[in-house]
This record gives sequence, structure tokens and C-alpha cells, in this order.
Amino acid sequence: MEARELTREDRSWAARLVARHNASSRVVSRGVLHDTLTLPGLIAEGEGVPLGLLHYRVTGEDLEVVVLIAVRRRQGIGRLLLRAAESLARSHRCRRLWLITTNDNRVAVSFYRAVGWRLVTVHRGAVRESRRLKPEIPECAADGTPIEDEIEFELLLRDV
Ligand SMILES: CC(C)(COP(=O)(O)OP(=O)(O)OC[C@H]1O[C@@H](n2cnc3c(N)ncnc32)[C@H](O)[C@@H]1OP(=O)(O)O)[C@@H](O)C(=O)NCCC(=O)NCCS
Repeated sequence: MEARELTREDRSWAARLVARHNASSRVVSRGVLHDTLTLPGLIAEGEGVPLGLLHYRVTGEDLEVVVLIAVRRRQGIGRLLLRAAESLARSHRCRRLWLITTNDNRVAVSFYRAVGWRLVTVHRGAVRESRRLKPEIPECAADGTPIEDEIEFELLLRDV
């Protein structure tokens, strides 16, 4: 398995995957609406088959991971893609990588901790604001947990 840059040929596969997970191609983080159809990305691939997707954006010295999806779970796909994003961030001379997940996503919280990212802040109630930008965000997760808070994780590459 390896990680590589997303190409034009990957776009329709990536768009379908994101729509399946996020109810549309749109993602909101910290009050910003992203259209993933226009974001750069990384693909995890094994024997020519795409196994995972990461969309990101670089602003200043920060690389934000906007989307991360592993098609098959617990096979190291998520970890591989975050490592590739880290290399990319270093090549862009970024200071940190960061991302937002939500309070209902317990798997994601366990995963980010396991791969060495730090929980920075819980933005309480922030999803209410996100729903104004993206009304398709459901009120509750499949297990009934209300989706309310944005949880911010980061990986610092250097202190200043
Ligand atoms: C979160 C996600 C990307 C993780 O990807 P993954 O490829 O399954 O994770 P990895 O195999 O790289 O796991 C690395 C480590 O994270 C931890 N981890 C991963 N999934 C976990 C789970 N379900 N429960 C507890 N720990 C978990 C483990 O420590 C794991 O190492 P191990 O398998 O050797 O024990 C994947 O679950 C996913 O696509 N979820 C749906 C989309 C999503 O919620 N994305 C995040 C949005 S912010």
C-alpha cells in the first residue's frame, strides 16, 4: 500500500466516497464551508485499488485535513494517509497540521490519539453554526448521539 497525490482521474471516486460519508461534497470546519470537489488530496492505494482518501488545504503555515476516510478499517490506511499529509506539510514548511472532528465520532477521537495527534480544544456547540452553512448535517449520529461539538486535533511540526 502506498499514498500518492489525488489526480483528475480519482475525482469521481473521491466525490462519491465523500458524498456517502458526509451527506454531500461539502464540509464545514470552524465556520468555513469547503467544497471538497475543488480541494487537493491524497489517495491510499493497494494493487491499483483506491483504499482511502484525504483532502487537505494549506493556509499560511497550517495544513488542515478536511476529509479522511479509510475504505477498509484497521488496516493502517488512516495512519498512512496522515503520515503522507505530514510529509506534505513539511515540504510546504508548515508549522502544524490540524483537523476538526465531531463529538459523536468516537472512533475518530481514538484514532487521532492513537496516531499521536493532540486534542487541542472542544468548541462547544459549534456544530449549530456549521448547520447554518450546511443544513444537511444531521442532528444525531446513527447511534442517537446528538452532534453538537467540534473537536480540534493538531500535530505540531515545530513550536514557532
Ligand atoms: C477514522 C479512520 C479514518 C481511521 O482509519 P483506519 O485506517 O481504520 O485506522 P488505522 O488502521 O490506521 O488505525 C491506526 C490506529 O488507530 C486506532 N484506531 C483505529 N480505529 C479504531 C477504532 N475503531 N477503535 C479504537 N481505536 C482505533 C488504533 O490504535 C489503530 O491501531 P491498531 O489497529 O494497530 O490498533 C476510519 O475509521 C474512517 O474512515 N472512519 C470513517 C470516516 C471518519 O470518521 N473520518 C474521520 C473524520 S474526522
